[in-house]
Amino acid sequence: MSSVAASLRAGAITLLLLSPALAQQDIYSRMDRIHPVYAPHGMVASQERLATEVGVDILKAGGNAVDAAVAVGFALAVTLPQAGNLGGGGFMLVHDAASGDTAAIDYRETAPAAATRDMYLDTDGNADPNLSRFTPLAIGVPGTVAGLALALERYGTMPLADVLAPAIRLAEDGFEVTAELSQSLKRSQERLSQWPSTAAIFYKPDGATYEPGETLMQPDLAASLGAIAMEGPAAFYEGDIAEAIAAEMERSGGLITRDDLSAYKAIVREPVAGTYRGYDIRSMPPPSSGGTHIVQILNILEGFDVAELGAGSAAAIHLMAEAMKRAYADRSAFLGDSDFVEVPLAGLTSKAYAASLRGGIDADRATPSETIAPGTSLAHESDQTTHFSVIDANGNAVSNTYTLNFGYGMGLVAEGTGILLNNEMDDFSAKPGVPNAYGLIGGEANAIEAGKRPLSSMSPTIVLKDGKVFLVAGSPGGSRIITTTLQIIMNVIDHGMNVAEASVAPRIHHQWLPDELRVEEGLSPDTIRLLEEKGHVIALKSTMGSTQSILRRDDGALFGASDPRRATSLTAGH
Ligand code: GLY
Repeated sequence: MSSVAASLRAGAITLLLLSPALAQQDIYSRMDRIHPVYAPHGMVASQERLATEVGVDILKAGGNAVDAAVAVGFALAVTLPQAGNLGGGGFMLVHDAASGDTAAIDYRETAPAAATRDMYLDTDGNADPNLSRFTPLAIGVPGTVAGLALALERYGTMPLADVLAPAIRLAEDGFEVTAELSQSLKRSQERLSQWPSTAAIFYKPDGATYEPGETLMQPDLAASLGAIAMEGPAAFYEGDIAEAIAAEMERSGGLITRDDLSAYKAIVREPVAGTYRGYDIRSMPPPSSGGTHIVQILNILEGFDVAELGAGSAAAIHLMAEAMKRAYADRSAFLGDSDFVEVPLAGLTSKAYAASLRGGIDADRATPSETIAPGTSLAHESDQTTHFSVIDANGNAVSNTYTLNFGYGMGLVAEGTGILLNNEMDDFSAKPGVPNAYGLIGGEANAIEAGKRPLSSMSPTIVLKDGKVFLVAGSPGGSRIITTTLQIIMNVIDHGMNVAEASVAPRIHHQWLPDELRVEEGLSPDTIRLLEEKGHVIALKSTMGSTQSILRRDDGALFGASDPRRATSLTAGH
């Protein structure tokens, strides 16, 4: 059994040994349970150790949660090239303790001006996944630099150059390649090496890969980060970096022009707001579907006594799966970039609509997906997104998820910049009704249009209790981001797990189509049998997500946990 599977089983066993009353006693720090990382002042949870350390150093130096988060975002672009990025996009939720407000920063990629609705159709009118995933036509206008700079300008306290300094150092001096990065680069070698600009950075001149413990230096990336430190985001969107990206597009056949780059704007939006059993939920609005469906699923489940049914019970998992499939069916029809299409957000997140959906759930039988809505799906999946969470000593919090889409995105580095470019355009519906790489089906609402943002599942979330930060959560995982984040929230609120237990507990996922209930190792065979008896088709899959979560106690003490499913993660504080 893998160590992760062993860890998941250990988590399941520990949870089984707890009576519900005991479980509710202390969700923070009891030492006879799997315990989280504790810190009294500030904390960072990210998927890569060096980036977490960068964030903690910023907090120790007096920076606030946003200063630390922006530094982590830039550092991950160096140390976690699979997902950390400058050439992609994402979403950041910022909670300001002084005002009690939470803002959602949307720095999702946009479709270039030359993008058209049918750009991924072949001559027979069929969607060609190769075009939307593996050619430079897949690249959207990157938003990360604009988003991180906007967050810092609005909510940070430190100069951009100061929060960029650690990332520049890591790129210039290099860092020790981990076993995970070494393996990942080996696995991706064929795809990445087709681009000489990428091969020159991530592989040795003779084509050999970097072994664990060897140093990976990225001088071009250091120079790009240095230019951003000196000139601000204009270096990326109008300066030399913009020129290099536009030149790369011309050379390799992509659509992004200098005009596309100079027109890019990160946007501050109102978060999706909901409630769950007395807690306030704040999460990402469109162009993400994440917040909408987390709130929708929680609303449906609020009408059931999930705590009484018990964590990991077939009865609870059945209800969760039924709620999930109804939400994902709605996703396919209604969700898209709300700057371009009408998204019925109020309706989807209303308690009344949830009650009507709940009324259609049979506690004993799975509803076949085809009777909820029609569709088909693909098996291919990839989940190289990454999430990080930060809370500072004043109770300010950041929940950030960003991505290149696939691991290393398109795999193409814009020559001379060290910057990997995304393949986010595949998150649009190439043809309404045809699934994307995550098997997610989109409709007209997510059709391609110039300047539009492709629909996402990224779900950075902040849970508030009495107006103060209680839980910061989020995850990578493609279509499973929504349900993984949901389960962290439910494990804490419904099942009284501390944040480490909530992270370890085995996960499930249903996305309407395919009509299968995905489960991780760790569910008992009895539970699986009971679910099958209710009519679920069980698919035992590899682990889902890589959560990075922090729980804040009323007195400000912080308890965090990095998902054991990823080897390089670290939660640390001071
Ligand atoms: N590229 C995955 C997502 O945004 O959901």
